[in-house]
Amino acid sequence: MAASFSPGYRGLPQMAGLCTLADAQRSDWSVDESVRRQKHLHYLLRRAYEIFTFRITGEPIYELKMAFSYHGYLCAEQVGAVRKRVGEMREPPLGLDQVPHPGLKHFCDEILAAPSSETLVFGLYEHLIPAIEDISGNLIRDAHPLADSPTVRVARLILSDLAEIQEYGHEALKCLVTDDQRREFEPWAKCLQQCLSAVGGPDGTQLSTGELPAAMFLATPFQFQSEPQRDERFQDPFNAGVNPEAFLYDERFSPRDKTLMMYYKRIRELDVPEMMASILYDLNHEEPWGFHEEMSRQLWDEARHAMMGEVGFASLGLDWTEIPINFTWSRNLNSQLNARERHGVLYFIEQGLMPKTGKRYEWEVGLESGDSLSALFQDFDWADEVLHSQIGRRWYVPRFSSLNEALDYGDDCWSKVMSHWRDDRDQGRTEHRNWWPDLYRQACAGWGVDPDPAALAYDETYEDTRADLKDISMSG
Ligand SMILES: [Fe+2]
Ligand SMILES: [Fe+2]
Repeated sequence: MAASFSPGYRGLPQMAGLCTLADAQRSDWSVDESVRRQKHLHYLLRRAYEIFTFRITGEPIYELKMAFSYHGYLCAEQVGAVRKRVGEMREPPLGLDQVPHPGLKHFCDEILAAPSSETLVFGLYEHLIPAIEDISGNLIRDAHPLADSPTVRVARLILSDLAEIQEYGHEALKCLVTDDQRREFEPWAKCLQQCLSAVGGPDGTQLSTGELPAAMFLATPFQFQSEPQRDERFQDPFNAGVNPEAFLYDERFSPRDKTLMMYYKRIRELDVPEMMASILYDLNHEEPWGFHEEMSRQLWDEARHAMMGEVGFASLGLDWTEIPINFTWSRNLNSQLNARERHGVLYFIEQGLMPKTGKRYEWEVGLESGDSLSALFQDFDWADEVLHSQIGRRWYVPRFSSLNEALDYGDDCWSKVMSHWRDDRDQGRTEHRNWWPDLYRQACAGWGVDPDPAALAYDETYEDTRADLKDISMSG
């Protein structure tokens, strides 16, 4: 929305272009009202971040997992912007942890408890995000354009991020929610509207009806689904029959062949968001906001890494749904370790990626391979991992007396995790089929080269090693 100007000296816009001189003479605004509305905005954005994030692990549809990772991150960034602005408005203590109105809580709790992908998408993109857009749009309209210009700017940036979220959301609604379902959801839509009417609209600027609706989906409160769910395109997810790290560090194999394994490694990172979401859920009230803001960025990076793998497969004309995308790392960590221990494992693994043999090596392999896409992805993957290592130094390491102690803790926690490799096979969850030769042959056909016999014969599993190639044969 462009500001309208009033001409000053030589026709130049006055008021730095914020508004006209007449608009700037409005006097119906105050720090109190600005802060009050921003608290509503903050609450809904934070809850949106939570809902997107807490539903990643249990959401089976891959595309939605990726979108939730992104949208959760965007909301987290905007939570940070609102917190900063409220902090500038002589408000300490900020009181940002309080619920501004029970109707807002009821509204968000209902959406968090949505029992299916379809209801969740409907609740998020048809109700929650529009409510946040409402508050932001009203703020831009009502806040004093000169005196409260920093708030107006924050609201504009929020609207810009939300527009991108909603572009996706509208598409998702079209794809997933049929007209029949929409009719079915009607009573729930009324319930959600009633919550907001009780508040007097999302920002409480209208007359409040007072009355909260009865719980609907909330009657079965949300429980975090720690077992990762995947849609039907994912086959044989317990399969740990191919060890990509051992291939990557084996000097017998060519950089070109290794790019294929690196694309697999990237797409398999899908289980990092599935695991990180559980940390953010468990520590939701135990860690300050800064922790969540940075960790949600990291979670989104990991989702992007998975999509880079998907893109790599597409670039080679390969179908990733033909091979198993293993999920036992996130599954085992979520079920066997507590949140602090899981964070320790994450940090330990990411530290291991820093030395010469880690992310730099993967980038060099990409460069040498002649696959410029692989080189590009590894270039940014490396940069992201350096950031993650810094995030760990800010939010994980300070809990220990030294860096080494922090690392040892993560290593110990990882060693404690039972991989269940043999159980998974013996109890029929997977045969640990070696899927590599078929995939490799297809890639070679695409490259127009004959398979390297040694690479074709590659047959190392995760039975006795973990991803950092540490021997786990003794620890199960
Ligand atoms: Fe990653
Ligand atoms: Fe990472």
